[in-house]
Amino acid sequence: MDKGELLYEGKAKRVYSTSDPDLYVQEFKDDATAFNAKKKGEIVGKGVVNNKISSVLFQMLEKEGVPTHFEKLLSDRDMLIKKVEIVMLEVTVRNITAGGICRTIGVEEGVRLKEPVYEIHYKEDKLDDPLINEDHAKVLGLATDEEMAIIKDYALKINQLLKKFFEGLNIDLVDYKLEFGRYKDTIILADEISPDTCRFWEKGTGKKLDKDRFRQDLGDVEDAYQEMLSRITQES
Ligand code: CDP
Repeated sequence: MDKGELLYEGKAKRVYSTSDPDLYVQEFKDDATAFNAKKKGEIVGKGVVNNKISSVLFQMLEKEGVPTHFEKLLSDRDMLIKKVEIVMLEVTVRNITAGGICRTIGVEEGVRLKEPVYEIHYKEDKLDDPLINEDHAKVLGLATDEEMAIIKDYALKINQLLKKFFEGLNIDLVDYKLEFGRYKDTIILADEISPDTCRFWEKGTGKKLDKDRFRQDLGDVEDAYQEMLSRITQES
């Protein structure tokens, strides 16, 4: 499937049309941004890593009954995906406190949560993707009650599956962000699942193996991405 016209360029990916109106190609870039693009840089090889990791995880989730936009891995940086209408929500699930939740409710980093914490954020850069509730999402017309119920069910099911998968790699899945899309009257998982969109801590050492190394200038950023790819591809 050849890449057609460039339709959209985001912070970390480009989206192209294909000869099939129901399919797009998403291309993963090495560009890295943090703090709503106030910090910019490059993580060499990141696009390849995120494409391959997302492919493995989407296929694992599909096998376990979660529908995703994944169709096929096309090349190092390109993935064939179903064309969806993105739901303008960023859904996060947290197992250990870090990042936003520490700022919002004043807890320290690294607290293991007894139950996962589910959050929705309004996907709107101008407002810094604010934390909202389901009433806000309805006022904004972002999704129906039924869609939000489906999204929450999938997000929590995905948590069970991902937690188990990463346990096997000696990695704590701290938190992650998901995006969903509408496809032929159904809701499916879209976007990516990668060290850009998850927090991964090595069990025992607590070493961060995700985009926090870039956000917090911790060094060894590229190595951390490669380490996650090698653990994930050895497993699958
Ligand atoms: O990263 P930050 O502290 O600003 O936000 P968070 O709500 O604590 O992020 C939770 C998870 O979602 C982390 O794994 C982030 O990497 C991811 N995230 C993302 O992929 N895209 C965003 N726009 C915001 C968070």
